[in-house]
Amino acid sequence: MSEISRILVIGALGQIGSELTPALRQRYGADNVVAADIREAKGTPLAEDGPYEICDVTDRTRIDRLITGYKIDCIANMAALLSAVGEKVPQKCWEVNINGLVNTLEAAREHELKQVFCPSSIAVFGPNTPRDSTPQETVLEPTTMYGVTKVSGELLCHYYHLRFGVDARGLRYPGIISSETLPGGGTTDYAVEIFYKAIEDGHYDCFVREDTMLPMMYMPDCIKATMDLLAAPREKLMHRSNYNVAAISFTAGELAAEITKHLPEFTIDYKPDERQAYADSWPRTIDDRIAREEWGWTPAYDLAAMTKDMLEVLTKRQAAGALYAG
Ligand code: NAD
Ligand code: SER
Repeated sequence: MSEISRILVIGALGQIGSELTPALRQRYGADNVVAADIREAKGTPLAEDGPYEICDVTDRTRIDRLITGYKIDCIANMAALLSAVGEKVPQKCWEVNINGLVNTLEAAREHELKQVFCPSSIAVFGPNTPRDSTPQETVLEPTTMYGVTKVSGELLCHYYHLRFGVDARGLRYPGIISSETLPGGGTTDYAVEIFYKAIEDGHYDCFVREDTMLPMMYMPDCIKATMDLLAAPREKLMHRSNYNVAAISFTAGELAAEITKHLPEFTIDYKPDERQAYADSWPRTIDDRIAREEWGWTPAYDLAAMTKDMLEVLTKRQAAGALYAG
């Protein structure tokens, strides 16, 4: 089958979608990548630099119209409620994450799309999973509704591939760290907030313990992993919808210490809240050998390089009076 050429990104205004969409536009052409979200985007680069449409992922008719109208052959479904928000409204989390995914997969089946991309997460794992060097194939018994939707999502993608031949691909993203769009309400948000607060206030009240270690990834690596998986030849993919991908694992304390190398006055207090329990149920480190073997995954950023880059970008933005402008 030929390569994808016209992509619909649903959830394009989110932390990852807002950086994935420009990368896709650069590779596939601005007019060939339709950004869509449930929210208005007037005046934002996403709406200015290419097509932008309002789309609720739970509205199947709307998705069908966009596919037909723009001759779409691939959907990247980035719309979701993340772990912390999802735990506050678990029924809504299921509705958006699962009914939305079923709409995407059904649309792909009926319109014979070439590909669907739907991210999974380290939240598929739970307290009964080995937490160090967590394998690709292991116990998936999450304790959050978000995690339940991600396990179900992986299985749905797998089923649609086996039963209907839909080429549904996905990665188990770790916590994503970025400087353009603030995260949307997950457990790993502390690893982003800490940079903004370090620059803004010189202090951060961290909502997980100092010794909390989670797998993380800097956005350039997240975009690279996503683009590489989208472009990987079909026949190379044995796992397809649930690849472990690892980059950096560090404790909250180690992250604070790295920031202190650049901002010696920075201070941090640890005030764990309900998100601590979600973090404690997830892996510390991930074994991503399968992704490396099947489609050549390899990350570029370590803790030092990521921290330096985040601080440089945010310091420049603060000097321009627009720390939160991204
Ligand atoms: P986000 O919360 O930043 O963005 C989600 C976007 O979806 C938002 O722009 C929101 O407006 C939109 N949305 C919500 N409900 C919608 C609906 N009904 N219809 C259409 N759009 C809707 O999330 P993100 O961090 O960009 O995550 C993208 C994907 O990656 C999700 O599947 C998420 O589970 C996964 N993921 C993210 C991380 C991370 O650290 N950011 C880690 C693991 C997995
Ligand atoms: N960053 C996400 C969250 O914390 C992990 O999927 O919810």
